[in-house]
Amino acid sequence: MCGIVGAVAERPIIEILIEGLKRLEYRGYDSAGVVVLDQQGNTSCTKREGKVGVLAKAVKEQSPQGTTGIAHTRWATHGVPSERNAHPHQSGNRFSVVHNGIIENHKELRKSLSVDGYTFISDTDTEVIVHLIHKLSAVYPDLRSAVFAANQQLVGAYGMAVVDSQSLGQLVVARSGSPLVIGYGLGEHFVASDQLALLPVTRRFAVLEEGDVAQITKESVSIIDASGEPVSRPIEESDITADAGGKAGYKHYMLKEIFEQPEAIRRTLQGRIVDGKVAEDAFGNGSLELFEAIKHVQIVACGTSYNAGMVARYWIEQYVGISCSVEIASEFRYRESFVHKDSLLVTLSQSGETADTLAALRLAKSLGYSASLTICNVETSSLVRESDLVYLMKAGPEIGVASTKAFTVQLAALLLLSKALCEAKAINQEFCTDAAEALNALPTHMEQAFSLEQSVKVLSEQFADKHHALFLGRGDLYPVAMEGALKLKEISYIHAEAYAAGELKHGPLALVDADMPVVVVAPSNDLLDKLKSNIEEVRARGSVMYVFADSDDQFEPGPGLDVVNMAHASHLIAPILFSIPLQFLSYYVALVKGTDVDQPRNLAKSVTVE
Ligand code: F6R
Repeated sequence: MCGIVGAVAERPIIEILIEGLKRLEYRGYDSAGVVVLDQQGNTSCTKREGKVGVLAKAVKEQSPQGTTGIAHTRWATHGVPSERNAHPHQSGNRFSVVHNGIIENHKELRKSLSVDGYTFISDTDTEVIVHLIHKLSAVYPDLRSAVFAANQQLVGAYGMAVVDSQSLGQLVVARSGSPLVIGYGLGEHFVASDQLALLPVTRRFAVLEEGDVAQITKESVSIIDASGEPVSRPIEESDITADAGGKAGYKHYMLKEIFEQPEAIRRTLQGRIVDGKVAEDAFGNGSLELFEAIKHVQIVACGTSYNAGMVARYWIEQYVGISCSVEIASEFRYRESFVHKDSLLVTLSQSGETADTLAALRLAKSLGYSASLTICNVETSSLVRESDLVYLMKAGPEIGVASTKAFTVQLAALLLLSKALCEAKAINQEFCTDAAEALNALPTHMEQAFSLEQSVKVLSEQFADKHHALFLGRGDLYPVAMEGALKLKEISYIHAEAYAAGELKHGPLALVDADMPVVVVAPSNDLLDKLKSNIEEVRARGSVMYVFADSDDQFEPGPGLDVVNMAHASHLIAPILFSIPLQFLSYYVALVKGTDVDQPRNLAKSVTVE
């Protein structure tokens, strides 16, 4: 999604802005731009379609000396990716704006601003903001007051940064629905939509609240809230290191993040299982008393996070013995859903800023849930700030657009949640003991699973010329098949679908032939015999099958049936362990196909618009 970086300093800031944009590239974008102002108010604006590297080259040739500036990576929503539609957008040779989010009433505003004589040169919704601020500056000469007044007329979600060549040495930023942080330096200040962008220049950040508008100079930061009252926001030291965004010698972030999983799980579980029991504050103070009374769990999430939720449904219903529903956030937020009595709303999100999941949480607050819990990877995110209970994942920054470590860490957290629910209700001691043991052993098992890398790499070559693939699983491995199919689609652009293996004969079997590879996740569990029958049904139709199996089950390979054996482990953590070869599979297929692994086409890391 779009990214914002801004700076105001004594020194030239162009390199800080470009480096910030590079650090936001992982979010997905299609064009980039920057504007800088020098101390005389001379404005230099450069925009390019494509990668930040192209912009950086253009800027290098011009070498602008400005000390105040804003920059942007755009992920097209209104208007095609092009230089014309790239941000910053400008009005009257004076105002420049960069914007994340969507202005929903842009058509009405465009009409009335056109009547007022403003000329639009782009197809974007953003351009109305800059003309509106320009118009309002006639009534509100102070830049922050003009931005605040403009906010009263904008409908939608935005984070924006504004500069004015007649308000030298200041930036104004506003947050409404799209995150922004202010970075504090020595005699210089910065702003960004993600603190990762600014880590080379500062580690001290304040997170703006919804409705805040801030005026930022090199000496000061002055914030007003949505009602126009002066406020201060706490400045906190980030514990993310500046090179957290680096590849550490790996070819891609995705591969690095696959290998980070055991450590991410260790960190996420550290201190949260004490003497075999879930720590009292693991899910937030008071969570255990609350869990005791919970009779239903409603999980809401998108994409990979939704797939993790689908696994949890099997666990919660089987081990806790209460009902659990899982819904895609974009559906949940727009329908009238039934709210069970004593129901816990659980949101799952890596970023904590996914617009649909956040909207679902906000809606749920008015629906009578007992409480909301978020399992989330970003401490400063909106979901964390707005939920009653928080389980902070400690996966570390996930940069690859295709989620890997966030998924397995979510699963570990959800298994722990199932255990916490059982403990609070004083039920199913056997599961509680087994889950503690399985979770403690999990990082080591994950490290063992990495030994499959080479065999999966070899196998992936057989996918390179394929256009479709099927993924099969049963029980809690069905959502793992869904996640495997999602990964393959995302980064190799091969059309992949997942089915519960028993469902194949109800239609999809018609698709199976030698050109349709079928991937099966087959751990050792009660459903294995059923799954074996399903495999034979598919095999009899001439397909080529790749089965990931538990070595204890001695799965026989044969014509049309490749078997990759996984070391035996508890069935409780099978969904987590079997995810690893599927991650390798999508990674190596993408490599063979030569696609952009970390920034697949059309996708964004943090989906902050609907
Ligand atoms: C897929 C992927 C997406 C995200 C989805 C939700 O690899 O990364 O499907 O899982 O956009 O994002 P979060 O978890 O940040 O809410």
